[in-house]
Amino acid sequence: MNKILIAPSILSADFSKLGQEIKDVQAAGADWIHVDVMDGHFVPNITIGPVVVKSIKPVTKLPLDVHLMIKNPEDYVESFAKAGADIITFHIEVEEDPKEIIRLIKYFKKKAGISIRPKTEVKRLETILPMVDMVLVMTVEPGFGGQEFMFDCLPKIEEVRKVFKKDIEVDGGVNESTAAEVIKSGANIIVAGTSVFGAKDYAQAIKKLRGGA
Ligand code: DX5
Ligand code: ZN
Repeated sequence: MNKILIAPSILSADFSKLGQEIKDVQAAGADWIHVDVMDGHFVPNITIGPVVVKSIKPVTKLPLDVHLMIKNPEDYVESFAKAGADIITFHIEVEEDPKEIIRLIKYFKKKAGISIRPKTEVKRLETILPMVDMVLVMTVEPGFGGQEFMFDCLPKIEEVRKVFKKDIEVDGGVNESTAAEVIKSGANIIVAGTSVFGAKDYAQAIKKLRGGA
């Protein structure tokens, strides 16, 4: 089985001291830093762009896992790649040809991920699975941190795992109790916003997500 990795989502960090928050989760044992990019069109919220990715890059040695919840992701792949993104994930629900976007991400020598919203069927991913390094299964409707985990998305993780041997990341409402279900279903990368940055002790929170006591 692939190693379990924990990717705290900075969406739930204190942005007035973002650099320190990132250093703190790194010291607490985080494996990746998850960066949620929202444009107010693909999802009803606006967050951050390449400028922030560029500023946080020198602060951490951890891979920057950039989750694009935006329309026209192909217009921004270059900016995020040059800003320091290591993994670039976009949504299958965008209007453009996903294969072209994956080729563009690969052209910039970054890992490519594809994400699916809770209502999207796994079979939509079929033809592009051989091209991607990671599948990101959403377990909330994308747009906001702090939402309730959708248990009816668990079978989708199993469905992806049956046909995909590389990384499966799960994002939305994952806490110490839902993390175990997510891992059992076949995921190996856990995104956690509230359950890490909302905790008093980041190291303890990360350990619990990984399955430790
Ligand atoms: C939701 C984002 C998530 C979110 C996770 O659209 O993609 O990464 O920040 O936050 P929690 O863990 O609080 O659900
Ligand atoms: Zn995310």
